[in-house]
Amino acid sequence: MNKENVYNNILGTVGNTPLVRLNKITKDVESEIFSKLEFLNPMGSVKDRIAKYVIEKAEKEGRIKEGQLIIENSSGNTAMGLALVAIQKGYKLKVIVRDRISKEKIDQLEALGVEIHMVDSSLPPESPNSYNNITPSIVEKTPGCYFPDQHNNRENNETHYETTGPEIWKQMHGKIDYFIAGIGTGGTICGVAKYLKEQDPNIKVIAIDPVGSIFYDYFYFKKKVKPAPYLIEGLGDEFLIKCVDFSVIDDMFRVSDKTSFLYTRKLVSQEGILAGGSSGAAIWGALRLAKSLKKSARIVTIFPDSASRYLSTIFNNEWMKKKGFL
Ligand SMILES: Cc1ncc(COP(=O)(O)O)c(C=O)c1O
Repeated sequence: MNKENVYNNILGTVGNTPLVRLNKITKDVESEIFSKLEFLNPMGSVKDRIAKYVIEKAEKEGRIKEGQLIIENSSGNTAMGLALVAIQKGYKLKVIVRDRISKEKIDQLEALGVEIHMVDSSLPPESPNSYNNITPSIVEKTPGCYFPDQHNNRENNETHYETTGPEIWKQMHGKIDYFIAGIGTGGTICGVAKYLKEQDPNIKVIAIDPVGSIFYDYFYFKKKVKPAPYLIEGLGDEFLIKCVDFSVIDDMFRVSDKTSFLYTRKLVSQEGILAGGSSGAAIWGALRLAKSLKKSARIVTIFPDSASRYLSTIFNNEWMKKKGFL
């Protein structure tokens, strides 16, 4: 942090996001709920942190050179973080995204000059052209590219162990009972959990997984179930991936698209917080947790990205009605 709030370039503004207490949406619970507003990062999401950390680490270790092409698969937010880093540091960027990604994210990626490879999200996960399978094959066919691999590269978790976790600990003055967050690549929740548990092993960590993703059944029953399509962007997966470290997770909740989106809208109408769909899942989870507790606790969650990415979906009444959510 820099006292005067002046930075050498925009990358200096990544991280050190505010933590806010929620007061209205929490009126029926005794516990206190705080959220870290990750949509206030320069590209509007928590993923700016990993883009900066992973590329700067690769630079320090001589694994990437100016001008090189970065390739990554992303639900859009990591792509935007990488676009920022690429522009600032002189890299090229190609991203692989699913076709269910919101129009706003595509428009922003285009505005940032990113090359986009769109994948048909109706393909079965085992198809060679599915989101998870096509990326390694594109990487293999592109000599000299750099693949951060946010799903399997534990530097993703390390980013949050080194930055988000310590920030939360400091902002909460070390008084935290629960940390609850959505699980996508797992980097955020597992990196923060590892750090917080090292400071205070009594802190309990709860992950939120969408209906249709496979993490919930694996966590509880060690079963790899068949995935099903869902609409929440950024959470869950069709495969087990290396950044998901189940050993630091104490409990897992499963959330539907409808619940996440209705709670996303409640965050706006009750708190004035314009956050995205996974933030609705996060606040729903934090409230469910608070209602289940016998005594008041201090609960921390994360709002990963901004409502501005979902104006044509979650905040569009016609879309919500068409999907049966209103
Ligand atoms: C909107 C949104 N929320 C939550 C997450 C989950 O974060 P993580 O990948 O660190 O588990 C992501 C990840 O892409 C995201 O884009």
